[in-house]
Amino acid sequence: MLARLDGAYRQLEGFNADVAHELRTPLASLIGETELALHRERGITELKEVLGSNLEDLQRLASLVNDMLFLSRADRGERARRSLVRSLAALAAEVVDFHEAALHEAGVGARVQGDAEGEFDSALLRRALSNLLANATRFAQRGTVIDIDIAPDATGSVRLSVSNSGPAIPAEHLPRIFERFYRADRAREHGKDNHGLGLAIVAAIARMHGGTAFAHSRSRTSVGISLRTSDLRPPAQKLNCTPMLTVRPGPGVGTFDIGSR
Ligand SMILES: Nc1ncnc2c1ncn2[C@@H]1O[C@H](COP(=O)(O)OP(=O)(O)OP(=O)(O)O)[C@@H](O)[C@H]1O
Ligand SMILES: [Mg+2]
Repeated sequence: MLARLDGAYRQLEGFNADVAHELRTPLASLIGETELALHRERGITELKEVLGSNLEDLQRLASLVNDMLFLSRADRGERARRSLVRSLAALAAEVVDFHEAALHEAGVGARVQGDAEGEFDSALLRRALSNLLANATRFAQRGTVIDIDIAPDATGSVRLSVSNSGPAIPAEHLPRIFERFYRADRAREHGKDNHGLGLAIVAAIARMHGGTAFAHSRSRTSVGISLRTSDLRPPAQKLNCTPMLTVRPGPGVGTFDIGSR
């Protein structure tokens, strides 16, 4: 019990430090640019440019804060609002359409395979698939195809996975990619655009459905979620302390499942 409490405390401490790091760089750049703009007389065009660039940074900060608020609501036990989704393939196709420009720019295709229906929170599923597809698009090798697989099974669960070819995630990083602010490529740490929250949100969405998130990376990288097609769990209990993230190795090298909290 003491070891778990210590672990939770360290996790919270680390989380606070990560938040501070993520906020410090864009805030420093906003302050610097604004100070510079105020330093001497500038024309309206130049001032508009500064405001435009500051607005972009502010929008990034707002989306970072929104992501953190979402994760905190999930930690407090917020559950998915389920309603009937007749076709997960149609939902996935909508997400692909939304990413069309990014896919085109990356020179990769995307196809949806399989289908299932069930009771899910469609807005949350769109968000999870969107995060997975954004990652796959970023890491996919040019000229290849990203697969979105929808695989229902006989036990009333469905696996949604997004797979791409490209550099594999090293086995030592794989168990940690669902952690907040974790980026396997340390060079991109504290980068402007990617905060390492996308997969933490994917795992939270799985938990909100009483499901799990998983990742495999060998010749292809495949990341996804496994969900019950309807809610069978008793109503959520309120959590009084920072919950621990349970990571348990799945079958085979480089395969990990994140247990539901
Ligand atoms: N398909 C993939 N191929 C290779 N590495 C991946 C893939 N998906 C995720 N990763 C690794 O996992 C890390 C965590 O992913 P996550 O989506 O949480 O963060 P991010 O994409 O870096 O930032 P954000 O999602 O906040 O923009 C990534 O930084 C990357 O190192
Ligand atoms: Mg991401």
